[in-house]
Amino acid sequence: MVSFDEKLRRQLQKVFVCCGDVRRFRTDPLPPDIMERLIKTACLSPSVGLSQPWRFVVVEDKERRRAVTEDFAACNTNALLSDFGERAARYAALKLSGLEDAPGHLALFADKACETGHGLGRVTMPEASEYSVVAAICSMWLAARAENIGLGWVSILNPTRIREILDVPESWRLISYLCVGTPRQSPMSRGSKGLSGNIAEDGEFTSRR
Ligand SMILES: Cc1cc2nc3c(=O)[nH]c(=O)nc-3n(C[C@H](O)[C@H](O)[C@H](O)COP(=O)(O)O)c2cc1C
Repeated sequence: MVSFDEKLRRQLQKVFVCCGDVRRFRTDPLPPDIMERLIKTACLSPSVGLSQPWRFVVVEDKERRRAVTEDFAACNTNALLSDFGERAARYAALKLSGLEDAPGHLALFADKACETGHGLGRVTMPEASEYSVVAAICSMWLAARAENIGLGWVSILNPTRIREILDVPESWRLISYLCVGTPRQSPMSRGSKGLSGNIAEDGEFTSRR
């Protein structure tokens, strides 16, 4: 039986704390084989019915990257104009992606037509395939930080357009578009609001009359 020691626990905790989202990257190339290693680690993650519905696209083509970056710019402008009202000016000042600098681009999809696992666990909750991909991203996120690499999650994108740009099957649903690279600064997580209000005591919600 594998057993982990206190030193490992302390280091792992450090990885959790230094796990913030990255939007500012150094432009130097990625260490060799890093994408492959991260993807291999992601594939160790649990998945519904062991279906492994994750699909990875390493985006290397300059034209495709440019098209994704343009889609981000268009979606971000639309969101600012239509959704944020008085806050638009403040939000416009935020940097919300590292697409232009990041040496690595990686798109992750859930294959909704995936037959592996014969649908086990997906009859009542079809969205469990998307959750499986998110679980894989979490593993990859930690593995990347342990290699001093940072990830930046970009969700301000039109999923249909990204599918077209990357020329992937219609059954693939975009879960995440990740920027990958060496962070300019150590990406500290901004911390959580703690446990208070996040945990329901046993029975707390069962006593309504
Ligand atoms: C599902 C998901 C989507 C996200 N999309 C974006 C995004 O489009 N742009 C961005 O700048 N950050 C994005 N983030 C990063 C969060 O904004 C960030 O993690 C959060 O503000 C906390 O900051 P920290 O990571 O520095 O602790 C996303 C994070 C998650 C989990």
